[in-house]
Amino acid sequence: MSNVRFPIIVVNFKTYREATGVKAVALARIAEKVSEETNVCIAVAPQYSDLYRVASEVSIPVFAQHIDPIEPGAYTGHILAESVKEAGAIGSLINHSERRMQLADIDVCVKRCRTLGLISLVCTNTPEVSAAAAALNPDIIAYEPPELIGTGIPVSKAKPEAVTDALKLVEMVNPKVIVLCGAGISRGEDVKVALQLGTKGVLLASGVVKAKDPYSILREMADACL
Ligand code: G3P
Repeated sequence: MSNVRFPIIVVNFKTYREATGVKAVALARIAEKVSEETNVCIAVAPQYSDLYRVASEVSIPVFAQHIDPIEPGAYTGHILAESVKEAGAIGSLINHSERRMQLADIDVCVKRCRTLGLISLVCTNTPEVSAAAAALNPDIIAYEPPELIGTGIPVSKAKPEAVTDALKLVEMVNPKVIVLCGAGISRGEDVKVALQLGTKGVLLASGVVKAKDPYSILREMADACL
């Protein structure tokens, strides 16, 4: 999986102003600095329009936030997997709760990623959907209960049993798939608990992107992985 290692912290920039344009590059540089200091793998997922410049400026893994289930051709306004790869992404989030897809389309996107050597990171909203996604054989699943996204209430502490259910179900369906969790992860302690539950890392956004001091929070989270 290219330069991706586990445990991993994936920072989704979403469409936050604090992580748009030049600020996307600045935040990615902070993630790179923490990754270099701690040797913990930290990846970022900027908006499409920032992918190329972020990927050109940092050496940490960069994910796209979404791809569409299309082949090269006449699909105005769509996101082509080849395009995010050319821009420097090493993988893509698929089916984020804020960009849901139908199962058949998730399947196409996972396969398109595999064909192109991109890492597929499929987001899921329940343990059962995690099991369904595992059957599609993605590289990574990130279980994120939507009701906790953006709340600052960490999934690892608020719903530990749901995280372990997701882990168990994915293991039963497809033990090769790596499982992360996300939603409300805001402190090092939240990351530590997520790893203790058996996940291989976290997918997060506001806890870092909207933090007053993203470096300190990210460093605390990376230290919790050691
Ligand atoms: O993709 C990460 C995400 O949906 C969780 O968001 O702000 O709760 O960390 P947040």
